[in-house]
Amino acid sequence: MPNLIVVNQAGEESALDAPVGRTLMETIRDAGFDELLALCGGCCSCATCHVHVDPAFMDKLPKMSEDENDLLDSSDHRNEYSRLSCQIPVTPALEGLRVTIAQED
Ligand code: FES
Repeated sequence: MPNLIVVNQAGEESALDAPVGRTLMETIRDAGFDELLALCGGCCSCATCHVHVDPAFMDKLPKMSEDENDLLDSSDHRNEYSRLSCQIPVTPALEGLRVTIAQED
């Protein structure tokens, strides 16, 4: 089970174990991070699961879909490391990933 570091909107870091096969959004939400709203439940239509990913891990993530790209465009906090966490499956390759919950729009 990969170990991840989650940084909340206040900049506080927490380590958590991420079960393989779930999404990053489910892992963060179920660990009790209320600020990751994930309003659409993971069907890529809300952008409230926006995170900033550790630059070193960008190439370990699945390619961004057009829908995800369009949704991220609606965020004022988008940067080159932005992803929607519901579109990222947890895999063993994510061991050590540091992920920051984006500020709310
Ligand atoms: S939970 Fe809505 S887009 Fe990810």
